[in-house]
Amino acid sequence: MNKHEIIELLNNDSKNDWLFNEADKVRHKNVGDEVHLRGLIEFSNICKRQCKYCGLRSGNKNIDRYRILKDEIILYVKKAVDMGYKTIVLQSGEDDYYDADKMTEIISEIKKYDVALTLSIGEKTYDEYKAFKKAGADRYLLRIETTDKKLYKEMHPHASFEDRVNCLYNLKSLGFETGTGCLVGLPNQTIESLANDILFFKELNADMIGIGPFIPHQETPLAKADKGDFWLALKVMAITRLILPDINIPATTAMETLNPNGRIIALQSGANVVMPNVTSTEYRTKYEIYPGKICINENPQQCRGCIEGKIKAIGRTISTEKGFRKFSN
Ligand code: 5AD
Ligand code: FES
Repeated sequence: MNKHEIIELLNNDSKNDWLFNEADKVRHKNVGDEVHLRGLIEFSNICKRQCKYCGLRSGNKNIDRYRILKDEIILYVKKAVDMGYKTIVLQSGEDDYYDADKMTEIISEIKKYDVALTLSIGEKTYDEYKAFKKAGADRYLLRIETTDKKLYKEMHPHASFEDRVNCLYNLKSLGFETGTGCLVGLPNQTIESLANDILFFKELNADMIGIGPFIPHQETPLAKADKGDFWLALKVMAITRLILPDINIPATTAMETLNPNGRIIALQSGANVVMPNVTSTEYRTKYEIYPGKICINENPQQCRGCIEGKIKAIGRTISTEKGFRKFSN
């Protein structure tokens, strides 16, 4: 599919059913009917960055900040392992408290368990990424957010688009399974730039892609902006499945925030991964990237049961494996 064809599909809703169905078939053929569950630990909501869309941005003073330290992280890992999770995802704001030494200690401790480990802790130096890999981390998530350089600058006035791209290529070259993705519906974002985002995923040969609609947060400069469109986000995700047939694609929490059946619709339109939260309820309300996040009042057991039920109800199974990319190269 070339850029022109992607733009055509994104602009035109008459082929949506065909697209979602096609993405579902490509998912079935390439990665099968198993859904991989990744146990998500949001271990710090402290962030030094100022992303205009994000509720965790350092400029937000109206938020209760927390850090979960190593021993407590390991408690959640143990619980997740007992519940059957085969992948742990450690996510946080860009919090310099967790320097390379602290992170490598946490990574080594987690890798004593039989799990794959994904990090999602932001932009770091090549040497830091290398240390994480050496300590045993398997995967890394770092969304490009948008490939429109002008929009990138607007959304992150203090950051550099080139730095972010470099981080992604560094992660790839170090042998991480590398995940990226974008927001759909940022103010002034064009359809053409979404097509470029998809082509960027292909160019990078990303191993995982997370797509979510933008949801305005009241304590950010974008408080009054319009929210993104669920169906447009779903289309970007489905086209990504067609273009990168064998990768892992999560049904994102942001999708379910805008549509009560969002994750199941996504699983039937190209997605094959869900990332339930495995931390306790007290932290969930505080990790407010955007408002209305689902599962705020549920505990890890409830989420596990809930999502298992939904997945089985659509005739899919829960994977008992770590769920690496099938044909990665
Ligand atoms: N709405 C939706 N998604 C958001 N993210 C950050 N802020 C928002 C928002 N307001 C996404 C970013 C980030 C991921 C962890 O959360 O894409 O990479
Ligand atoms: Fe958390 Fe459904 S996954 S309540």
